[in-house]
Amino acid sequence: MSPPRKKKDATAPVPASELNRMEASFEAAALRKQILHHDDLYHGKDAPEISDADYDALRRRLEEIETAHPEVITKDSPTKRVGAKPAKDFAKVRHAVPMLSLSNAFADEDVTDFEERIRKFLNLPADEKIDFWAEPKIDGLSCSLRYEKGRLVQAATRGDGEEGEDVTANVRTIATIPQQLTKDAPDILEVRGEVYMTRADFAKLNEAQEEADDKIFANPRNAAAGGLRQLDPSITAKRPLRFFGYALGEVSEEFAQTQDGIRKKLAHWGFETPEPAKKLTGAKALLDFHAYIYAQRPDIAYDLDGVVYKVNSLDYQKRLGFISRAPRWATAHKFPAEQAETILHKIIIQVGRTGVLTPVAELEPVNVGGVIVSRATLHNEDEVNRKGVYEGARVIIQRAGDVIPQVVRVLEPREGQEYKLPKKCPVCGSTTLREEDEAATRCTGGLTCPAQAVERLRHFVSKYGFDIEGLGEKIIQQFWDEGMVRGPADIFRLAKHAEDLKTREGWGELSVANLLSAIEERRKISLDRFIYALGIRQVGQATARKLALHYESLDNLKTQMAAAADHAGAAYLDLTSIEDIGPAVAEDLVGFFAEAHNKDVLRDLQAELDVRDFERPDAADSKISGKTVVFTGKLSKMGRDEAKAQALSLGAKVAGSVSKKTDYVVTGEDAGSKLKKAAELGLTVLSEDEWLALVASP
Ligand code: IVH
Repeated sequence: MSPPRKKKDATAPVPASELNRMEASFEAAALRKQILHHDDLYHGKDAPEISDADYDALRRRLEEIETAHPEVITKDSPTKRVGAKPAKDFAKVRHAVPMLSLSNAFADEDVTDFEERIRKFLNLPADEKIDFWAEPKIDGLSCSLRYEKGRLVQAATRGDGEEGEDVTANVRTIATIPQQLTKDAPDILEVRGEVYMTRADFAKLNEAQEEADDKIFANPRNAAAGGLRQLDPSITAKRPLRFFGYALGEVSEEFAQTQDGIRKKLAHWGFETPEPAKKLTGAKALLDFHAYIYAQRPDIAYDLDGVVYKVNSLDYQKRLGFISRAPRWATAHKFPAEQAETILHKIIIQVGRTGVLTPVAELEPVNVGGVIVSRATLHNEDEVNRKGVYEGARVIIQRAGDVIPQVVRVLEPREGQEYKLPKKCPVCGSTTLREEDEAATRCTGGLTCPAQAVERLRHFVSKYGFDIEGLGEKIIQQFWDEGMVRGPADIFRLAKHAEDLKTREGWGELSVANLLSAIEERRKISLDRFIYALGIRQVGQATARKLALHYESLDNLKTQMAAAADHAGAAYLDLTSIEDIGPAVAEDLVGFFAEAHNKDVLRDLQAELDVRDFERPDAADSKISGKTVVFTGKLSKMGRDEAKAQALSLGAKVAGSVSKKTDYVVTGEDAGSKLKKAAELGLTVLSEDEWLALVASP
């Protein structure tokens, strides 16, 4: 902005009231132009050039001038727009049916295991062949399209699987997505698939970007993501996006019996489906197809990172259901990892959430399959020594999917060296310790170690925890350094720093308001997310969910974990009866809840939050909701895992051992000691058929 006249003081602007009318009109016009330009960069191009604070300063100056000289106000002045800048966010969409991810297979055995697991779950005889549908795994962004009475009404990104972003306006600009389906489409139809860009279109786009001196995209996936997540759909329209349909969300009426049938219907309604695809029987055929697609990869028009196998029968799919966040009936067989050669400059040490010291390689940045990599993990000191890693070495690194890049090998390894992690934590100076039978070296500082405290906070707000947008790594670190946030509950007291935050470099009214409202939204949280967010060792999403289902409320969980400290008592038995919770996980859980500092954190959090009791799925009208069931002996109509999964989905708890708390003991063939114990305790014992009748009855 060029000032309208020489200022008395080069840094302070002339007070608005001292400007004459011409000067005021001149400066206001210049400010309006600048503000509109920055609005466009921010909202349209997703690429702001100035900080929120500087932007706010421009607006404030314009307002001052308009107040002092109302005659210069124009109708289209940005100050006349309601609510200042529109929110940068997309509206949120809750998925009617969660959008899941896929389990991965890497080695051939993973694929044979996949088939075997399915056979066992469904209790199919060894000679019964299972049909699969195999198709490329497209490296794009998943998207759910909702059609009502044949009309496209909403499109949403995956988000965290439960809730995504509303990108309807953008999706309407994608030419390969039908806006209207023929009359035979069900009243409600959600088509799920992948938004992607072909390699050729990507190359053309980057050429044009380069000519226009605009942003260059690293790979087609990033370009597609940037195109889809535009606040201005006219920009999306200029990006050559395409869509493949491959699965369904909510549907009001069934229209196919097989995966094959779904694909045919999708094609009939005008969707493109991933090709080359094939119906195959047995693991051997899947592996051959995988090898074939891998060889074809350079000739396929778009990026793919593996092959997806799906059980063809939808009846089987329904029975197989889901585990955690992925279907049991499908898996993604990934292609081998991408590798590249580079120089390892330095070995640094990172301290993680649980205090583990990890040696990390700082690398000469290198492009590995479309992603620039400048760091790779070296895991632990044994790995450094086994591989003969040293500073200055030439190394091969690899990246597979979302996994952290790793150093695979050193071109000229240094033999016989003894790399040792330091005896003192590089962050807090506490003693480090390596247990005899463990590979990991840990800092003993606990939460007094800033690295552990900060990493825990990062985990707390991460996607599957509190998922607070705007609280990224750097900001958490900054808040921690300044003492504003030392424990998780402090996040919910950030509002008291609002005024201070607004005045900071890089912050402004809007970003502070957005952050505080994202935090407010999370004061209500489900029990499973809450447990996961605590960052207890060995307690990931699946275990957190099982704990939530089993204990139902935070208060109950706390009481039971305290009681479980007594290994001979009922609470400990009850805890270890939960599927997948063995003595080691139980130890970490009990230890966590017993530690004084954690008790304080929990109390502090409970004062700020509303942790919701776990809501049982489909529980309301199920006869077995809330009941504890134990299965024993060999079932004949379904596999043990299928029976358990069905019970869980109807809101029951499944225990591994019989106790006074057991409501039903379901017995198959050759039921042994559990049946005996059930008889001693006088429990209700059901045959498999009686059980099936019970769960089928309304
Ligand atoms: S089927 C119930 N088929 O990969 C989940 N997914 O890593 C059904 N993906 O979230 C997914 N190509 O977004 C399926 N041919 C394909 C796919 C595919 C890419 C994505 C999908 C999923 C992710 C999991």
